[in-house]
Amino acid sequence: MTSIECRPGGPVAGTIRVPGDKSISHRSIILSSIAEGESLISGFLEGEDSLNTLRAFQSMGVSIERDADRVRVQGVGLHGLIKPAGVLEMGNSGTAMRLLLGLLAGQAFDATLAGDESLSKRPMNRVIEPLEAMNAIIDSQGGMAPLQVHGQSRLTAINYRMPIASAQVKSCLLLAGLYAQGTSTISQPDPTRDHTERMLRGFGCEVATNGPDISISGGQSLTACDIEIPADISSAAFFLVAASIAPESDLTLKHVGINPTRTGVIEILNLMGADIALLDEREIGGEPIADIRVRSAALKGIKIPQSLVPLAIDEFPALFIAAACANGETELSGAEELRVKESDRIQVMADGLDSLGIQVEPTPGGIKIQGGTMGGGVVETHGDHRIAMAFSVASLRAKEAISIRDSANVDTSFPGFVDLARQVGIRVTSHG
Ligand code: S3P
Repeated sequence: MTSIECRPGGPVAGTIRVPGDKSISHRSIILSSIAEGESLISGFLEGEDSLNTLRAFQSMGVSIERDADRVRVQGVGLHGLIKPAGVLEMGNSGTAMRLLLGLLAGQAFDATLAGDESLSKRPMNRVIEPLEAMNAIIDSQGGMAPLQVHGQSRLTAINYRMPIASAQVKSCLLLAGLYAQGTSTISQPDPTRDHTERMLRGFGCEVATNGPDISISGGQSLTACDIEIPADISSAAFFLVAASIAPESDLTLKHVGINPTRTGVIEILNLMGADIALLDEREIGGEPIADIRVRSAALKGIKIPQSLVPLAIDEFPALFIAAACANGETELSGAEELRVKESDRIQVMADGLDSLGIQVEPTPGGIKIQGGTMGGGVVETHGDHRIAMAFSVASLRAKEAISIRDSANVDTSFPGFVDLARQVGIRVTSHG
């Protein structure tokens, strides 16, 4: 089994660029595949999750050539995909599975989506139920993968009020909506990442946003376009926390996506007293980006505002480490969704922090963390990439070595993490 071994250390310093945004990478392959013409993608995330999406479209007849982070896609148009020869393997990726389910619901062929052990336990009814209301025919294993989608081309539009704030559900339904008769409107209870809407517009598709409502009409064709993908703020988050907690740190992260639906991590760290500066703010391909400079700061515990939860949903493992290093108590609530991510991130983080001597109190929808002194020990990741990276960062303030078990899935979102972490001064090594 792979592990990351960490020795206490710091400071963190230098200038780095983390890999491309995972959410945008998935969407770049999906939309360019069903567009008319050739799209060139740069900055593509070479992680297992987005590569699974890429392979899925290759097996549905799309010609896709990749040279490192540059990808050339020959779009086949809205109705040009063909039945894949085998099962579409989505690995660890909930985004790939849920977004593809929406797209496949509108195709004329049958297909099966499967995932790894973690993905096969994650809830799919959140997308199956509204898709069935659009006339899709889907078989599941009690609401979980593998999922069989039966091809038919008579999807009807939907007006759907999402019970949870989920960009995956919204994006799934927007993709299905492209194949439906009529105009679909999806209403979100709170803002969620809007990369699908932005990119659809980039491909010339009309998507109307009216407060919480997003509408799309079926049958619109997409026109190929080039896409430059920014560095992933969710990967940058580990380094934002690292440089905040390690004394005498000064780190610059280049070209990071700062879409306002993703910057909850910066807002939460700022509320905790972090020293973060956004430099050279600019826009590429419809997405705002900036270089981010972060220096050490004395963090304080806070009550995390619930409005920021969906905007920082993937960054809580890293933020829990910031909380463990802060003065006083940090309290998170309204984050039930963390329990159905790649692992139960509330429990797995609570167990890891507890084993390092931090006082934690998990609740159904959150956690209370008392800032304190971290010792060393063994941490189980349960195969969750973000848990592994969060505890690598924790080592900067730990008194003893930390051994992080089952770390191979770091490659799903952040290939090269250990090397980049070492480059800036985190004393980690990869084993196995
Ligand atoms: C994602 C949306 C989020 C996030 C996931 C990626 C996306 O999930 O946790 O890592 O790319 O749309 P939910 O929208 O289900 O909260």
